[in-house]
Amino acid sequence: MEFKLMLLLIASLLLTSILSSQPSQASTFSRPFNHEELGLRVEKHTHLHFYFHDIVSGPKPTAVRVAQASMTDKSPTGFGAVVMIDDPLTITPDNTSKIVGRAQGIYALASQEEAGLLMVLNFAFCEGKYNGSNLSVLGRNTVFSKVREMPIVGGSGVFRFARGYAHARTHWFDLTTGDAIVEYNVYVSHY
Ligand SMILES: *[C@@H]1O[C@H](CO)[C@@H](O)[C@H](O)[C@H]1NC(C)=O
Ligand SMILES: *[C@@H]1O[C@H](CO)[C@@H](O)[C@H](O)[C@H]1NC(C)=O
Ligand SMILES: *[C@@H]1O[C@H](CO)[C@@H](O)[C@H](O)[C@H]1NC(C)=O
Repeated sequence: MEFKLMLLLIASLLLTSILSSQPSQASTFSRPFNHEELGLRVEKHTHLHFYFHDIVSGPKPTAVRVAQASMTDKSPTGFGAVVMIDDPLTITPDNTSKIVGRAQGIYALASQEEAGLLMVLNFAFCEGKYNGSNLSVLGRNTVFSKVREMPIVGGSGVFRFARGYAHARTHWFDLTTGDAIVEYNVYVSHY
């Protein structure tokens, strides 16, 4: 009795090992992996600090309106407008200070009640070990609030597997032109 049970156990173990050693392409397109096999060893936590220059006026704007609702004129919040940006990110608020990256993407006026933006953009870094790496932001930005928090939803290069958040504070805003300098503190976990 015990011997039969043992045989059965061995047989079922063999069967499982044969089945699990089948080439994976036959029936599946996914598999678990370890971070190590991609050379991603230690999770890091990085705080980035820079100033975002959003220039809508003058001969070389960094933010251009590319679409708007036909009703925009009637909306006090500009609801429906879409702006494409390629804004420099600098170390200090001075626009001649070192550029560490650019904010490239779109903001759209998404609120009928207040100045509430939908932000969909990438921070493309060009400085030091961050050169060539990117972070992706998808969030809500109520530009007249003191601090706005936006999620960092991913990244590439040194920012693979990134997640975290950005805090934006308006440093300077010209009401007549609409030009702005915004201070960003970005806290991100990555590998
Ligand atoms: C920096 O800002 C000043 C004042 O707004 C402007 O005249 C100048 O063209 C800007 N320089 C650059 C490099 O954007
Ligand atoms: C960033 O990388 C590009 C392309 O690899 C290179 O041309 C450029 O000089 C680098 N910039 C800095 C500041 O390291
Ligand atoms: C980051 O974005 C740049 C474009 O700005 C792209 O060329 C590059 O491949 C991205 N970096 C990585 C590591 O994917």
